[in-house]
Amino acid sequence: MTTAFEDRILNERARLRGDEAALRKRVAEFAHGPKAKEILDLTLKYESTGHLDFSLFNCPPVIDHGVGARLYDVDENEYIDLHGGFTVNALGYGVTEINEAVKSQMDKLCQYAELPVEPRARLAKELCQRHPGDFDKKIFWAVTGGEAIEIIMKLARWYTGKPILITHWGDYHGRTAGAMALTSKAFMVAYSYPIPPADTAVVRIPFPYCYRCPFGKAYPSCEMFCAREVGRLFESKETWLNNPKAQVTNVAAFIIEPFQSSAGYITAPLEYMRMLKDLSEKYDFLFVSDEVQAGMGRTGKMWSIEHSGVAPDLIAMAKSISNGLPISAVTGRKEIMDSWGPGAHSSTFTGYPPACAGGLKLFEIYERENIIQGAAEKGAYFLEGLKDLQARHPLIGDVNGMGLYLAIELVKDRQTKEPAAEASHFAANELVNEGVICIYSGYYFNRLCFAPPLVITKGDIAEALKRLDVVLGKAEAKFGIGK
Ligand SMILES: Cc1ncc(COP(=O)(O)O)c(C=O)c1O
Repeated sequence: MTTAFEDRILNERARLRGDEAALRKRVAEFAHGPKAKEILDLTLKYESTGHLDFSLFNCPPVIDHGVGARLYDVDENEYIDLHGGFTVNALGYGVTEINEAVKSQMDKLCQYAELPVEPRARLAKELCQRHPGDFDKKIFWAVTGGEAIEIIMKLARWYTGKPILITHWGDYHGRTAGAMALTSKAFMVAYSYPIPPADTAVVRIPFPYCYRCPFGKAYPSCEMFCAREVGRLFESKETWLNNPKAQVTNVAAFIIEPFQSSAGYITAPLEYMRMLKDLSEKYDFLFVSDEVQAGMGRTGKMWSIEHSGVAPDLIAMAKSISNGLPISAVTGRKEIMDSWGPGAHSSTFTGYPPACAGGLKLFEIYERENIIQGAAEKGAYFLEGLKDLQARHPLIGDVNGMGLYLAIELVKDRQTKEPAAEASHFAANELVNEGVICIYSGYYFNRLCFAPPLVITKGDIAEALKRLDVVLGKAEAKFGIGK
């Protein structure tokens, strides 16, 4: 029997409501030092409980500064950073060259009515040149990743004149009102009550999460059943996507993460994206890669989609473009970018000049120091280390990664693959106590994700792996895993 609204809603809401008193208790128990406690008390007094920080850790560390891939909190505890602030800090911390470039632009001009400025024009060229594909490209500037996605949603529909956007279950594309419709997070829907994300022209398909194949198949004997299933949706008139008889397609774009980031750093078979690209060509709509988190060289190529050999029509990018300053962009085919009239989209801090100056310096360093190749090499070393841990720790069910974009999936039992969510929560928090910052995520809250600054040294990776080894051992003992 279904529980009636008045009997369920208060209980359900209570489970999702903020609770300052409960957070204060966590601070009292878990704060990483007296200075952190003082700052967190102030934070809790004046900031909304709806922020992300306490959802990531029992008690978030209060970072003061960083050097390279090491972070230091306000109580002078040192951490190896395996998180990169959600990949914002590709070149790590204290990068004097970038800071000087940003400061010098700030001394000249911060922002003036979104009008063009020199560093913005130059960075536009750099980013357009890095968009794969043998066609002319242009850029549209924005401020956040979510805004880049909003731009793509509008632009794709405007250009094609079609309504439907296809994305994956588990994709994360931002939390603004439009982008939220493309993001699959159960708790976000509850906070939209009583109106769920209002964009009804969004169709979701399962992501090729091979360790837990949504179709119960195994790779590669599945012969990419998942991608073929997407194709099948276009062959029937009984879906929203396409009328095969009249040859009318209702789709504007695939808007997808080639690898799923917020869902737990899940990589996918490379041929999957190629098959989806073929479908977008066959049915004449756009293919959009959201590279906000996995892009900028993290996976060992500039954009994660490049591993598939696919040249997307549009790319969403943000986070580490300026190594820590808020700036985002969409690059893509010239003819799409030029289909908009002047003023079609705008936001005040678009293409923020100091961030553009930082971005130009960032690419100078990328080229000079072979940062992307370094990410591939150090990532392979990190992956080997994780596989070695898997050989010794029954808690690790799966390891996947590409460059410095890696994750381990924790399970209670390798046969049943029962997710070890509590052990993951324990491990992520214990790692902070051991001086390693990473986050846990996953469809079942059971994946530890690793995205260090691309400048991390092999020495730091080796040290982090040692500490991970200790923490996994503690988690196995605490939760009786492998006994
Ligand atoms: C893949 C992806 N797309 C979009 C976004 C949204 O970016 P922002 O938080 O800057 O709005 C994120 C943020 O984590 C992301 O990971």
